[in-house]
Amino acid sequence: MTGRGDDGSRSVDLADLLDLTDVEAAALERLDPMTLGYYAGGAGEERTLRSNRAAWAELDLWHRALVDVSTRSTATSLLGLDLPAPVLVAPTALHRLAHPDGELATARACSDAGVPMVVSSLASTLLEDVVEATSAPVLLQLYVGRHREVAEALVERAERAGCVGIQLTVDTPVWGERHREHRTGFHLPDGVDVVNLRRHSPDVGAPTTGGIGEILGWTVSPTITWDDLSWLCGSTRLPVLTKGVCRPDDARRALDAGAAGVVVSNHGGRQLDGAPATARSLGAVAEVVRDADPAAVVLVDGGVRTGADALRALALGAHAVQLGRPILWGLAVGGQAGVARVLELFTSDLDRTLALAGCASLDDVTADLLDPR
Ligand code: FNR
Ligand code: LAC
Repeated sequence: MTGRGDDGSRSVDLADLLDLTDVEAAALERLDPMTLGYYAGGAGEERTLRSNRAAWAELDLWHRALVDVSTRSTATSLLGLDLPAPVLVAPTALHRLAHPDGELATARACSDAGVPMVVSSLASTLLEDVVEATSAPVLLQLYVGRHREVAEALVERAERAGCVGIQLTVDTPVWGERHREHRTGFHLPDGVDVVNLRRHSPDVGAPTTGGIGEILGWTVSPTITWDDLSWLCGSTRLPVLTKGVCRPDDARRALDAGAAGVVVSNHGGRQLDGAPATARSLGAVAEVVRDADPAAVVLVDGGVRTGADALRALALGAHAVQLGRPILWGLAVGGQAGVARVLELFTSDLDRTLALAGCASLDDVTADLLDPR
């Protein structure tokens, strides 16, 4: 049931939200235009944003009949961690725009679900406080910005706090042009900031209006190259995944530089508009990675919304998927409980989909599910 709260806002009964599309619709009703523009938007004409979702739906699933699936499991292991399901929370910036508890609410929901959380460099909560708030594994997402020593300091903090890995984002030499940010007046409201980076760069001067490219331009750098990946892999004991790869040759290069794996991603369609949907780039990347190093990890994100999408991703060779915007929609709708609802809907849908496809475990999810002929 939905009704109106004292402040006139619509209250949502989370039990009424039956899938991630319902959660998104409820969030769209509640978020202020600026936050909505920032969260929902993609770069340029939003071609990649749209194709991310459409491309998963184009892949048919050829279920296996008459398989005993009475005992089944979505459990998996990744980077030495035992996980209840092949899903992670993708790094997204500024959770406190969606809910006052911000990243702490997300971290607590991850704790209950046992789902790893990748914390953005541009989080609005201190990394140490996020790690403290959860028993789930935490990874740091890293941007190497104009000041290398800031990245060094963040990596050190991640190690000390007990993070289990790093995702170095490699699709952001500059920020994509997201028109919605300009149209809705993106800015950092009072009390919401990129606190982890600001701590090491208190005096950075930047415009306070524009898109993220203007306001947070200093947080990334067009000079980042493979040398930075080699430096990072050599300077931390944590496994490093390169996030934002779409090409097999880049995936191979990442492993050669010392990465433990890759995240096939186009940043949710927010960087290069025209980049391939991840459902289309994943297969070739996964094949190269598997051939080069069977122990290396392949993750994917971008438009993953259903258990069927996750099954498609695993059949294409991914070890796990990441959820970006759905987590923000959950936060907006109900803080910790909203994120918990998103994770519960997604993992229970995956369990059911596994059964319907005739798979008792993730080991049974193989390429023939996409084409047995
Ligand atoms: C992101 N993403 C992102 N990626 C990253 O490496 N560091 C970051 O700080 C952010 N911040 C961010 C903010 C917002 C509002 C969005 C929507 C996305 C990209 C994110 O990690 C992921 O790649 C995509 O969100 C996946 O696509 P879906 O699930 O949103 O379709
Ligand atoms: C974004 C950043 C923060 O996509 O990665 O907005």
